[in-house]
Amino acid sequence: MAMISTVAMDKKDCNENTKLESHFAVKEPYDECVVFRRERLIKTMTEFQEHLIERTNHVLGYHLNLNCNHLMDLSPLLRFHVNNVGDPFKESNLDLHSKKFEIGVLDWFAQLWEIEKDEYWGYVTNGGTEGNLQGLLLGRELLPDGILYTSRESHYSIFKAARMYRMDYQIISTLTTGEIDCDDLRAKLVLNKDKPAIINVNIGTTFKGAIDDLDLIIKTLEECGFSDNRFYIHCDAALDGLITPFLEQAPKLTFKKPIGSVSVSAHKLLGSSMPCGVHITRKRYIALLSKSVEYLATVDATISGSRNGHAPIFIWYGLNMKGYKGIKDDINKCLIRARYLRDGLRNAGISAMLNAYNIIVVFERPLDDEFIRYWQLSCVGNMAHIVVMPHVTTEMLDDFLDDLVRRRSVWYRHGNVQPPCLAEEIGFSNCSCLDHPKGLIDGN
Ligand SMILES: Cc1ncc(COP(=O)(O)O)c(C=O)c1O
Repeated sequence: MAMISTVAMDKKDCNENTKLESHFAVKEPYDECVVFRRERLIKTMTEFQEHLIERTNHVLGYHLNLNCNHLMDLSPLLRFHVNNVGDPFKESNLDLHSKKFEIGVLDWFAQLWEIEKDEYWGYVTNGGTEGNLQGLLLGRELLPDGILYTSRESHYSIFKAARMYRMDYQIISTLTTGEIDCDDLRAKLVLNKDKPAIINVNIGTTFKGAIDDLDLIIKTLEECGFSDNRFYIHCDAALDGLITPFLEQAPKLTFKKPIGSVSVSAHKLLGSSMPCGVHITRKRYIALLSKSVEYLATVDATISGSRNGHAPIFIWYGLNMKGYKGIKDDINKCLIRARYLRDGLRNAGISAMLNAYNIIVVFERPLDDEFIRYWQLSCVGNMAHIVVMPHVTTEMLDDFLDDLVRRRSVWYRHGNVQPPCLAEEIGFSNCSCLDHPKGLIDGN
């Protein structure tokens, strides 16, 4: 009987899927009348919106600010093609661009990261990955035989760049917090003293939100005999590039230090309808990448060809709507809620870690994949994390915690399966597995 009902279920699911797929298939317009076609398309879009609304309310594991309602004001722009191909600071024969907005955005970030207007160059990217590709390309062009050093907890885009550019690289170990281990960095630098160093510094790792100690990295380079002209530092500040500058106690991200470039994702802390980001470097470096493109009557030093001209406007609008105060308020809300979540998990006897100046709470991986999908968590090994972004309310966190505690009582009911030990991943003091129940008492 059970077999028959499973088969019947599978068949039903299969039919549902086929129905859904046919919903999304592109159809020849001439096969149906115009009125019916518009009705069908609008119905599909309405259903898709309903899906997005429901799923938006359950995004906990990703670095996305989903509070984007204010960007609806920009919807009239969707009927225009806006293309910022080439260098943002150079005009071309194509006038359908938003480069004035782009420069406004770049000036704002240059000021935030403390580099003078006439000393920086940059552009609005497709996101943090493109910013990293651009930063590491610059490093490689400036120091062609340089070795890339990056921590093992770096974002995959860093390793992608190393493969794309065929760079030699050294993977540096990390501390329990996820920060780069400067002792290991030192050991590897000393072994490769004859080659320049291209360093990727994480201003917030993807999983634990760890902030590499930029000052210690610079000191380590100097102590290992690397003078300013023999190293290049790119800062991958995808999330925290817009957080640490607003926190007085946090390590300073500034071009007053000997760094070469910084990139941030704008759809992360700020929020945007489409992925986008900002990349800033020193103006004196960019001539190395700049090439004149005759058919466009402009010059280009960017990774892309055509560039999204709506994205700078979306960022510009968000910055104008929020200003320093609005962004600061968002960050403070996230910090308070992240601590609330960490404490809630710990009070329920669940291992949890929250790094300083951080909005990413790392905890035990839930046992059930369906639960992970429902809350759209991100997991690595035995760990899961929640990124407490501005759209993540206390109510969402309460619902999540209630759900997790209820499910755990079922998963671990019989005692033959135990919650994982996370002592190695997040430290003894943050672990509350059966072997380390004391951890939570000692941990802060
Ligand atoms: C540290 C870090 N770098 C780079 C990226 C890539 O950013 P994007 O998804 O905007 O390309 C991420 C994304 O989560 C990240 O966490």
